[in-house]
Amino acid sequence: MKRSLSGIQPSGVLHIGNYFGAIKQFVELQDEYEGFYFLANYHALTSSPKGEDLKNNTINVILDYLALGLDPEKSTLFLQSDVPEHTELSWILSNVTPMGLLERAHSYKDKTAKGIKPNVGLFTYPVLMASDILIYSPDIVPVGKDQKQHVEITRDIAIKFNETYGKEVFKLPKEKIVENVATVPGTDGDKMSKSYGNVINMFGSKKQLKKQIMNIVTDSTPLEEPKNPDNNITKLYSLFATEEEVNALKEKFLAGNFGYGHAKTELFDKFMDYFAPFQKKREELLQNMDYVNEILKKGALKAREIATKKVDEVRDAVGIMKKS
Ligand code: TYM
Repeated sequence: MKRSLSGIQPSGVLHIGNYFGAIKQFVELQDEYEGFYFLANYHALTSSPKGEDLKNNTINVILDYLALGLDPEKSTLFLQSDVPEHTELSWILSNVTPMGLLERAHSYKDKTAKGIKPNVGLFTYPVLMASDILIYSPDIVPVGKDQKQHVEITRDIAIKFNETYGKEVFKLPKEKIVENVATVPGTDGDKMSKSYGNVINMFGSKKQLKKQIMNIVTDSTPLEEPKNPDNNITKLYSLFATEEEVNALKEKFLAGNFGYGHAKTELFDKFMDYFAPFQKKREELLQNMDYVNEILKKGALKAREIATKKVDEVRDAVGIMKKS
């Protein structure tokens, strides 16, 4: 069976960009691929969260994974920190990684351009990500478009390692991106992102979710006039609705006498219908944390079995001896 691997940082509450760009793919791939899906909690440290917040976010993301349909009978779910071979491999890989490769990373450049003072962890972030991936030799890495370059960097590092040590230790992975949801827009039309304050979450109070949807940015065309049908509301609505429903919404915009407020209410109703079963499942899981913790323990054991073998192979190739 082919293998799929991906991860999400528990650096805040997940949003529908994470769902449509990544988690929905993980769920849909479960029958066809052996799946490994983890929580990148070491990556989350790069934004210096408070310890308590990181712990809470970690629990929230595993609940989200399960509520949204990841099935522990089919996929291996685990915490990055429970497989210490990820960080060990990361150090080894950092020695075949040219500085220039990391200096060109968009996510690093974007963050520093926004005035974030980078720590070394933020700079070497793609090396840890390469190690997360290469340790499991996956065929595909399902992600949103913003992670494409990180998977390319992973391939570059793998090629450099294989060439340096004259062995095919690492298999070259491919990103898997679903084109129409590669970059889910936020409520302001820019890419939806935890750090831009433009998200719509999946879980939260009805009031909170409604507020986020009501915050979608629109122009000031008066109620009675026709409106541009390709607006931020339509873009988000099309994530949940059929093509016919999207066309019907567009026609209402074109006809006039249909306000943005009406459209937002329609979007909110669609959104609630779509996520209601997941919200219910999440409530149930919250009452059963022992079960959730057991899944993570089992997942870590299974992941570690693969990770230790790969890291043994790597140590041998680079000449790091093991005496105990
Ligand atoms: P993270 O935690 O920022 O995002 C998790 C996943 O959600 C996708 N995503 C989006 N997709 C479409 N539209 C959006 N607006 C949107 N926002 C986020 C991301 O592309 C990602 O797939 N570096 C990774 C975590 C990671 C990882 C890995 C991923 C660590 N190691 C190994 C794959 C393999 C990250 O920060 O994703």
